[in-house]
Amino acid sequence: MLVRPLSYPDPALSDRRIGLRMWREADIDCIRLAGTDPRIPKGTTVPANFTQAGGLAFIHRQWARLENGEGVSQAIVDVDDDRAVGLLWVALRPQPRVCGLGYWVIPSARRQGVATAAVRLAVPWALETLDLQRLEAWVEPDNLASQHVLTSVGFQLEGRLRNFLTDGRRPADALVFSVLPSNR
Ligand SMILES: CC(C)(COP(=O)(O)OP(=O)(O)OC[C@H]1O[C@@H](n2cnc3c(N)ncnc32)[C@H](O)[C@@H]1OP(=O)(O)O)[C@@H](O)C(=O)NCCC(=O)NCCS
Repeated sequence: MLVRPLSYPDPALSDRRIGLRMWREADIDCIRLAGTDPRIPKGTTVPANFTQAGGLAFIHRQWARLENGEGVSQAIVDVDDDRAVGLLWVALRPQPRVCGLGYWVIPSARRQGVATAAVRLAVPWALETLDLQRLEAWVEPDNLASQHVLTSVGFQLEGRLRNFLTDGRRPADALVFSVLPSNR
């Protein structure tokens, strides 16, 4: 539950290298490439076995998230050619003024600071424009790259939730990270 209306950032968020914008059907190849890393279909609704229809349905689901009041899903794009290389998702939690953050980057665009830059853009927008009191992220303990992204943008590790996530059919632990307006 938010006190401000949910909307895409206006103006759109960008730095010199990457931007965040609404998904387009033309971004479908990004969905295909995301599905080549088994960790992404495992934790998201990205199809593991790509088809044109499945890729388009994924993009339509991202649009529906705002319409349904679930949150805001945006493509992470390279500003030079507007090509989508990842996803950043701000999800409403049941608690008032609390959201969760999710993201992924296609394998060929990793280790170039893309996720860090996208999260760095999204945090002040989410805290200030959506007027959040808390932005959190749940990360599997072995996902060191994701933990690195969060701590380098100012998130703090709060603890470990045992058997909180489902890894395939098995329960998995989650590390909880958060950033508050007072940390900015
Ligand atoms: C996690 C993920 C989003 C990171 O995207 P990325 O664009 O490569 O991230 P960045 O390049 O901004 O930063 C990653 C940082 O982690 C570091 N890193 C990468 N792999 C690492 C590893 N195995 N161990 C430790 N650090 C690692 C990088 O060196 C980098 O640090 P640096 O900024 O000091 O160089 C990407 O790997 C991904 O999409 N993974 C699958 C989906 C996923 O796990 N999503 C997050 C769910 S919580």
